[in-house]
Amino acid sequence: MDRNERIMEIMENGLIAEEIKRLKKERNAIILSHFYTRREVQEVADFVGDSLSLCRAAVDSKAEVIVFAGVHFMAESASILCPEKRVLLPVPDAGCPMADMVTAKALREEKEKHPDAAVVCYVNSSAAVKAESDICCTSANAVNVVNSIENREIIFVPDQNLGAFVSLHTDKKIHLWPGFCHVHHNIDEEEIKKLQDMHPDAEFLAHPECRPEVLRLADHILSTTGIMKEVERSGAGEFIIGTEKELYAKLKRKYPDKKFYPASGKAVCYNMKKITLESILNSLRNMEYEVRVSGQVREKAKKALDRMLEISGN
Ligand code: 13P
Ligand code: SF4
Repeated sequence: MDRNERIMEIMENGLIAEEIKRLKKERNAIILSHFYTRREVQEVADFVGDSLSLCRAAVDSKAEVIVFAGVHFMAESASILCPEKRVLLPVPDAGCPMADMVTAKALREEKEKHPDAAVVCYVNSSAAVKAESDICCTSANAVNVVNSIENREIIFVPDQNLGAFVSLHTDKKIHLWPGFCHVHHNIDEEEIKKLQDMHPDAEFLAHPECRPEVLRLADHILSTTGIMKEVERSGAGEFIIGTEKELYAKLKRKYPDKKFYPASGKAVCYNMKKITLESILNSLRNMEYEVRVSGQVREKAKKALDRMLEISGN
């Protein structure tokens, strides 16, 4: 894109953002965004955060409408937690491939194999899977959630990498599920070693969805909010960022005096990128696409989410 095209884009985005602001007021709506959405989307959001803080923001909001700039399971969680609100996902097929790696039926079969195990499900899962689970967790609280459970055995779905990370911090027997997030699973151990050789003073901050061999190289293993906080807290001047590239770009803008290196140029969540300013505008104009979880599935899934929020200090 040349300079003139970029100026045109900024002007167009400005006009769309103005209209979004007006419609938000008219509809009594808020926009919640995950850190992996596009920069211009995060700029119109009322709150940007990790999966745990987004759940809390949904519960705490007084708005009647929540536009979720994120993926389907996030909008579902908001609907489960806040049935009185209308939850809109601007692009209906913005999904999470990892969440699709476990179904309620397959989980029921696994439960039959391990009748004494409790089920912990990562929030990156469908409402139906949450309804089959005892408690949910996010990347920010997975270790605490697992250790809060009385059962000695745990079925952990769907992320094998987060589950393996948790198993290092508990004496419980964890049955892992073979799910993974392609964005983090493809971050390569050898690439990290090369980056560490080139930048020996850099702290390597990795998301727990990365493979165990990558996590072994990390100075800190953190959720997306945890990575933001560590950069703020740390005295270091250089960081290798082991998560989706939008967080790296955000950190670079926020801390121009520090140096950041992406763990992989290919760590992009295309589903999060489906959410554009235009799709948010259409969503508010046409009140689409509504995500609603109801009936028994909602009730059961809410128990698993509420239990997580209780132990996470909400
Ligand atoms: P957190 O933002 O909770 O760390 O999760 C990352 C993620 O992959 C969300 O889809
Ligand atoms: Fe799913 Fe990975 Fe994208 Fe998160 S980053 S929404 S886990 S595919």
